[in-house]
Amino acid sequence: MEAARQREFTFGDDDFDALRALVRQHTGISLSDAKRELVYGRLSRRLRALGLESFRDYRELLTNDPDGQEIIEFCNAITTNLTAFFRESHHFDYLREHVLEPLADRPPGQRVRIWSAGCSTGEEPYSIAMTVKEAVPATQRHDIKILATDLDSDVLAKGRAGVYGQDRMKDMAQARLARFFRENREDSVVRYTANPEIRDLITFNQLNLMTEFPMKGPFDVIFCRNVVIYFDKDTQRGLFRRYAQMQRPGDILFLGHSENIFKVSDDYTLVGRTVYRRNPT
Ligand SMILES: C[S@@+](CC[C@H](N)C(=O)[O-])C[C@H]1O[C@@H](n2cnc3c(N)ncnc32)[C@H](O)[C@@H]1O
Repeated sequence: MEAARQREFTFGDDDFDALRALVRQHTGISLSDAKRELVYGRLSRRLRALGLESFRDYRELLTNDPDGQEIIEFCNAITTNLTAFFRESHHFDYLREHVLEPLADRPPGQRVRIWSAGCSTGEEPYSIAMTVKEAVPATQRHDIKILATDLDSDVLAKGRAGVYGQDRMKDMAQARLARFFRENREDSVVRYTANPEIRDLITFNQLNLMTEFPMKGPFDVIFCRNVVIYFDKDTQRGLFRRYAQMQRPGDILFLGHSENIFKVSDDYTLVGRTVYRRNPT
């Protein structure tokens, strides 16, 4: 009743069911009934932007979307992009101790590949890059690269730009901020731009994790944090299987704080707080 009174657009069960089926098909995200308001709120903005009058019209547009452009906007509107620099900092400590610091004793030219899968606006891959630079002073002695991918083209563009407002930086240590970012002041607005020192380690590419991976791997480390939480178990199972094919025994997989692969994958063993290692084959 209340919803019907307040709503700008009619949003029936058929609309919600059809749209969540499309979300699942394109992103693997399964939306529970509890996400109904979220879907309405986020997609209403698309309807307004497109000058449409109903969800029926919007569904029609999505089904007859020859260049797939609106499907991209649709996925962008639904996905949740919350992230932060050094979020779940214990993963960066683990990366430093177990992967990066041991490089000091290894011959030059070691190949290390780290994948931030579901990188959102870039805070995660830049945090990895800072960790690399701090732990491996002579980074160029080795062959270290970070791949950062996301389905959402808008967040990816932000990551690529590497420009962040003051609010994103409030918890970052001053020394890090001064070393890895350039401060720009325009009137009273302060922004921080990532320096080439960290930027050059990262390649940003659009990739839907539901589709075939175009890269060969292997990846020493995969960060896939706070991404699979939206996927149902079967989708997670398929994704972890494909991650396992991109990793060698002993390689590392980091998941988000509320994610686990219990009963979903036999390919990994838990070795720390949401830290997994690829099992021998
Ligand atoms: C909550 S953010 C997590 C960002 C970062 N990994 C972190 O933990 O701070 C989840 C990201 O996963 C992305 N995502 C969701 N479904 C995806 C899919 N099927 N393929 C690729 N990225 C996806 C979203 O676009 C979003 O940017």
